Amino acid sequence: MASELPQRNALDELMEDIAEVLISQEQIQARVAAMGAQISADYAGKDPLLVGVLRGVFMFMADLVRAITIPIMVDFIGITRYGPSARTQGVVRFTKDLEMSIQGRHVLFIEDVIDTGLSLRYILRSLETRDPASLKVCALFSKPHTRLFDLEIAYTGFVLPDRFVVGYGLDYDERYRNLPFVGVLKEEAITRRRLPVGPHA
Ligand code: IMP
Ligand code: MG
Repeated sequence: MASELPQRNALDELMEDIAEVLISQEQIQARVAAMGAQISADYAGKDPLLVGVLRGVFMFMADLVRAITIPIMVDFIGITRYGPSARTQGVVRFTKDLEMSIQGRHVLFIEDVIDTGLSLRYILRSLETRDPASLKVCALFSKPHTRLFDLEIAYTGFVLPDRFVVGYGLDYDERYRNLPFVGVLKEEAITRRRLPVGPHA
């Protein structure tokens, strides 16, 4: 009978690949709520447009907008990075542009994680040419130790050490995005899916 099968937690299979949880679901939820409250206060009366970068940001964006209590609009861009080393070099390319005009709008750009800053620098340069009334950055995670470009981040959720993390929207080889926390993979999980050099977003 089905009811006699051993019950597995829905996340057990994914958890087997996690070496360490760095930031718990509760910590993320509390921080995102606080960020939403701060943004609501700072942007009151400004009707801001929140621009997220796909795909890693989708979970943060969904929680953040529900923590914001003022009128806002939401749009997304998509980018991809190619290069000999996806991390330290490479070319950034838009795979999806904005649907809305940002001219004269107060734009808050939302990122999941800012590592070297290469992607962010490219995106900000492009958005700045479109004449927004203001342009600021909100990142859930920042890795300041690996930053190659000096970029101003108005709202930072958590500062991360120089480690590759997965969960809460962040992937390794497109997996683990659905974990509700942020953690570090076991070495065996990384070698099992050893990434070829190629697209990285
Ligand atoms: P940057 O251009 O080096 O700042 O890289 C930013 C992008 O790299 C992020 O938007 C993520 O898509 C990806 N990224 C950087 N660090 C991590 C990580 O630890 N886990 C998953 N993706 C990451
Ligand atoms: Mg990303």
